[in-house]
Amino acid sequence: MTITIDEMSTFCKKKGFIFPNSELYGGMAGFFDYGPLGVELKNNIKREWWRSHVQIRDDIVGIDGSIITHPKVWVASGHVSNFQDIMLSCPKCGNKVRADTFIEEQLKISADGIKMDKINELVKENNLKCPNCKTQFAEASQFNLMFKTNVGPKQDESSIAYLRPETAQLMFVDFKQIIDTARVKLPFGIAQIGKAFRNEISPRNFLFRCREFEQMEIEYFIHPDMKDCPFLSDTTYKIFVFSAEMQKKNEEPRLMTLKDALSHKIIKSPWHAYWLSTEHKWFVSLGVNPDHLRIRQHNQDELAHYSSDCWDLEYKFPFGWKEMEGIADRSDYDLQQHIKHSGKDLSLFDEATKSKVVPHVICEPSLGVDRSFLTFMFDAYTFDKERDNVVLKLHPKIAPVKLAVFPLLSNKPELVAKAKEVHKEMQQCVNCFYDTSGSVGRRYARQDEQGTPWCATIDFETLENNTLTLRDRDTTKQVRLNIIDLRTSILKLLNEELKFDQLGAPVKN
Ligand code: GAP
Repeated sequence: MTITIDEMSTFCKKKGFIFPNSELYGGMAGFFDYGPLGVELKNNIKREWWRSHVQIRDDIVGIDGSIITHPKVWVASGHVSNFQDIMLSCPKCGNKVRADTFIEEQLKISADGIKMDKINELVKENNLKCPNCKTQFAEASQFNLMFKTNVGPKQDESSIAYLRPETAQLMFVDFKQIIDTARVKLPFGIAQIGKAFRNEISPRNFLFRCREFEQMEIEYFIHPDMKDCPFLSDTTYKIFVFSAEMQKKNEEPRLMTLKDALSHKIIKSPWHAYWLSTEHKWFVSLGVNPDHLRIRQHNQDELAHYSSDCWDLEYKFPFGWKEMEGIADRSDYDLQQHIKHSGKDLSLFDEATKSKVVPHVICEPSLGVDRSFLTFMFDAYTFDKERDNVVLKLHPKIAPVKLAVFPLLSNKPELVAKAKEVHKEMQQCVNCFYDTSGSVGRRYARQDEQGTPWCATIDFETLENNTLTLRDRDTTKQVRLNIIDLRTSILKLLNEELKFDQLGAPVKN
């Protein structure tokens, strides 16, 4: 069953995943707080991403830059002059809407990358009016999305700074220190996870477009002559591809191998093929259905000011196919801009070619944490008619709670004591929850709804032979297990992704 974005937002609030920010005071559009379950899921997503993109690779190092940086960074990057959306304003009631999304909704056409003149033309032609008071809109205008603040006690133009609208620039600004200290060799990447802020004109669709969000980004640097990607080994991997050409010709996306996409020059760079498939595989490895994923190339009008080619990894949300991650070729745009504006040398000595070079960012995988969160939630959300409750089939690696422990009856002190003991022990290795409230069936249902993959129940047989039942969320199958084997079994299930059937024969410590 597919639920709408509003139903998902209600579900997340009810279960303690996400709360609208400062609801006590009427709320703030575009800001959200992660609740007790949400923060666990979000941290697990970030941990999995960092582990697979940084820690298990030899070619990527991480940083954690500050949110407020020197304002010249944003002049050099082009954000001060270019990071804007087109806005329509009502001269009567003051209502402001983001022009492209408003036009898409009203006229049911794609408005990606639409220009100011075209917007004014469409508004006039179609007599589009303010949805609040039905007054004619004023001419469209540009609106810069960066949040401004003042640094220090002097509150004037000289102290203006910006909250970063992307984490990316920190990787360029710290570039010299990173190559001097981490002794990286081309090709290499710099990764970062952190907050970004955009003063979106019309925040909407819950976490999808908010004003404060998090990004997981990599700037991947190569020597500009290095056209081939040494990591692209498996070109038989299949993805739904939607190129700019296919969009222009009104064709449907096609499932194709990377090999075919490259040989037909649909994906031009092997680096793009590598990063797109790496990101696609990451989502699939964490349980996302590949039929709900596709890659879409930006058409020329859509490209950001720094990008010469860009593909998005998109997910089939209930409100349409939408970008989760952008993977852009940024060339040497940013490093050259910072060289120009800072007057500093940001080239490096490339051992392979024995020459100084300003490296190119061949790919910038830029993924939103909050959009990933939403993707995992939508893909996991299932309503089980037989059980008559929601089953959140989150991959165990990202599930907020891994194991719930219950005494069969809460009024039997021997069962309670044993269950508490097991819970305490298991808390040492995984996020573990203890519950006594309501019937066991009700407790299972509550855990299903929050995505807990396994529940352990202590019953009367436990007191006789030290075994418990372990129940699997997705199949509801139960096996009897010796308590001493529980820790090994859960860790094994988590780390090796064993099937539930294999649980009966746990490996001893
Ligand atoms: N450094 C490149 C960059 O920032 P982007 O396409 O503007 O590129 C990258 O953003 C990702 O950040 C998006 O694919 C999306 O997942 C996330 N993102 C961007 N704006 C967002 C917003 N207003 N709310 C939530 N996530 C957002």
